[in-house]
Amino acid sequence: MRINKFLAECGVASRRQCDKLIEDGAVKINGKTALLGQEVNDNDSVTVNGKRIVKDKRKEYYILNKPKGYVCTVSDDKGRKTVMELLPKHAGRVFPIGRLDYDTEGLLLFTNDGDLAFRLTHPKNEIPKTYMAKIEGNITESELDKLRFGVEIDGRMTHRCNAHITDADKESTKVVITITEGRNRQVRKMFEAIGKNVILLKRIKIGDLTLHGLNRGDCRSLTAAEVEYLKFL
Ligand code: URA
Repeated sequence: MRINKFLAECGVASRRQCDKLIEDGAVKINGKTALLGQEVNDNDSVTVNGKRIVKDKRKEYYILNKPKGYVCTVSDDKGRKTVMELLPKHAGRVFPIGRLDYDTEGLLLFTNDGDLAFRLTHPKNEIPKTYMAKIEGNITESELDKLRFGVEIDGRMTHRCNAHITDADKESTKVVITITEGRNRQVRKMFEAIGKNVILLKRIKIGDLTLHGLNRGDCRSLTAAEVEYLKFL
């Protein structure tokens, strides 16, 4: 990219004003005085009056209350609705952190911060994710214990987890379950492994971050404090 465009995109001044700075000899590329129209790339070191100019690759972070009926991909070859459609218009090129099934609703994060996305999805970091699972019929404490101590899914045992009943009637039971893995359709498969059918699944928390104040389908930017919290989760 041309040096004046680069400087303007870094917020130094308008392109024309940047040309003036270049003419005045205030701009250096890799220690040499820049020329008008000179090209720069990401590896070049650019200074203005001796001060290093770094391209502001602004990080963006969003939280969405995903409704069911949306896929967690940037585009879907079956033409289904994607979660990207629910981002604010001003959002840049962000991507979902992990995924929720088509039929699962709840808390989904988006960012263009590859480091944070990697941190939050790497199994070794054991990030706690909490779900509300509504299951058909009832469940006993000893059945819940099986979930708590681990069940076999896809040929491997699940890690220990927390699970407790929050509501029950004749037809269904609500179980809040916190897992620290992120295997494919894990919660549904865990209930399946003890013979229970999940009729509604919603992610309600990642760590202590909740959907508080976000209606189904709503999306907002994370606050700086929330981003800091996630970085050290
Ligand atoms: N577990 C599931 O079964 N589905 C999800 O979307 C997330 C966790």
